[in-house]
Amino acid sequence: MKGIILAAGKGTRLYPITKPVCKPLLPVYDKPMIYYPLSVLMEAGIKDILVITPPDDTKPFVDLLGDGSHLGIKIQYLEQKVQRGIADAFIIAKDFIGTDSVCLALGDNIFYGPFFRRKLRLAGQQGEGAVIFGYYVADPRAFGVVEFDSEGRAVSIEEKPRHPKSNYIVPGLYFYDNEVVDIASKIEPSARGELEITSVNEEYLKRGNLHVIPLGKEFSWFDAGNPDSLYEAAGQIRAAQRSGRMIGCLEEIAWHNRWIEKDQFIEIARSMDKTDYGQYLASLGEDI
Ligand code: G1P
Repeated sequence: MKGIILAAGKGTRLYPITKPVCKPLLPVYDKPMIYYPLSVLMEAGIKDILVITPPDDTKPFVDLLGDGSHLGIKIQYLEQKVQRGIADAFIIAKDFIGTDSVCLALGDNIFYGPFFRRKLRLAGQQGEGAVIFGYYVADPRAFGVVEFDSEGRAVSIEEKPRHPKSNYIVPGLYFYDNEVVDIASKIEPSARGELEITSVNEEYLKRGNLHVIPLGKEFSWFDAGNPDSLYEAAGQIRAAQRSGRMIGCLEEIAWHNRWIEKDQFIEIARSMDKTDYGQYLASLGEDI
């Protein structure tokens, strides 16, 4: 399975902060935002990753993540020249995906919660169709919204509905079989002029091949695309990490997955020993 992080948004909802810095590179407490979606792909066991960046702005991403070899993964980069919507990622990434299945993570979505790794592995093993998630929010109007029947099967999915049929939004993490490349190339732009990911999901629903995994209330999800949610996400991550568990720690996942050697892990920890992040890694290294 291939992984894509769509990190090409201009971040206009965060102006003026994002005028000189791309949104996915902004800090969310103690790490750049993109660490969180990257950590999700790595937790899912995905090693071959494409980062889609804004036009002429790939360099800072490469400065941060390089080719991924320090994490035992392979990272490539492509630009989204024109902002055509989320589903455009599959058109841009057609050659990268090849004949594989693919997982798309949005660059500003942050997830953490119990048994997430297990849920991700389950989603990745589906083999056929699409797997998305459903997350309860009080006001779902700014998101994709999924409606369920009495047996918990998805029956409709709508993008930013004025009158939502449920409180379950579809967060920015999507698993698809290879059909997605063809589906994305055939959908029409929406009224806001975008190739909507919801149109892709609607097509899978029509084919009877859309699976929705609910994320319970014990779970945390943020679309950190506006000042309030960015601030809230940072605060909650800080609070959650006080319990001693780091969220979005790429080196820890790489080590846990046995993708890097002990020496490599310890060297990275040493290079950051002035930070809590580096000291956390060093403390893990002591147990190795
Ligand atoms: C996008 C998707 C929407 C999804 C949301 C998650 O919204 O279109 O379906 O629920 O991401 O963050 P946008 O960021 O384009 O407003």
